[in-house]
Amino acid sequence: MKVLSSSEETYRLVDQMRMEGKRIGLVPTMGALHEGHLSLVQRAKQQCDMAIATIFVNPSQFGPNEDFQKYPRTLQNDLNLLADKGCDLVFTPTNAQMYPQGHSTFIEPPSVAEAWEGPIRPGHFRGVATIVLKLFQILPAHVGYFGRKDYQQVAVIRAMCRDLNLPIAIEACQTVRESDGLAMSSRNRYLSPSERQRALGLFRALEAAEKLIQEGCISGRQVEQAMRKELETSLVDSIDYAAIVHPDTLESIETIDSEVVGIIAARLGATRLIDNATFRLT
Ligand code: PAF
Repeated sequence: MKVLSSSEETYRLVDQMRMEGKRIGLVPTMGALHEGHLSLVQRAKQQCDMAIATIFVNPSQFGPNEDFQKYPRTLQNDLNLLADKGCDLVFTPTNAQMYPQGHSTFIEPPSVAEAWEGPIRPGHFRGVATIVLKLFQILPAHVGYFGRKDYQQVAVIRAMCRDLNLPIAIEACQTVRESDGLAMSSRNRYLSPSERQRALGLFRALEAAEKLIQEGCISGRQVEQAMRKELETSLVDSIDYAAIVHPDTLESIETIDSEVVGIIAARLGATRLIDNATFRLT
């Protein structure tokens, strides 16, 4: 497995792979890898000739009071995990490389960024869209792999690719969960044992929503209330949102008449977790 931190060298190598007719899969990450990330690499290996990962903790997607400083940085372990999965190339740029002196160009995120995470994390999707576009430029892949756990992030990236005519397909891969249902996240390692236990509330709330919809409930409001009740019963410290939304627009759904997505953001102590699930009327 090759590890490169120069964007010029990386571009040259990926460009050469393309010229050789190789299909390239790209897995952008911020490191602190877990099974969720590794499943994306595995998918890229299955579908492409070359699986490439990036590791960069992107400062522009963190707010001033967020966890940029304490975000886990576990580079050597990440590289070992990627090598074990057969990753072909890892791009690990420095901050100066991605944001050189005088850098002042940013992407205005698409409208799907405006709700939910948007107002709670101002500037977050501007930072995500900007770094993802920059990575797509440096590593001109055929397919970009992202986890569905960050449902709105995937919607933002898809819309950006559509709006800017980017020649890359976006694959959203299933959320990988711990055996008790907690969605894997690099931020789970912040949780104390009590918070870890209470964090299961997010999964339970999604289960409660699914049960209600399967029983025939078509009221978005009622399902949201059921999710909130479950989150409160599980003693999460606060709920940022628990909503039933349209799978593409992420607009709130009043009446459930086809596929919908339950999205949740909640806090356990200083840790903020998100989760989601897709529901279909049976
Ligand atoms: O999901 C993440 O880890 C990040 O938001 C991403 C897509 C790597 C951009 O920094």
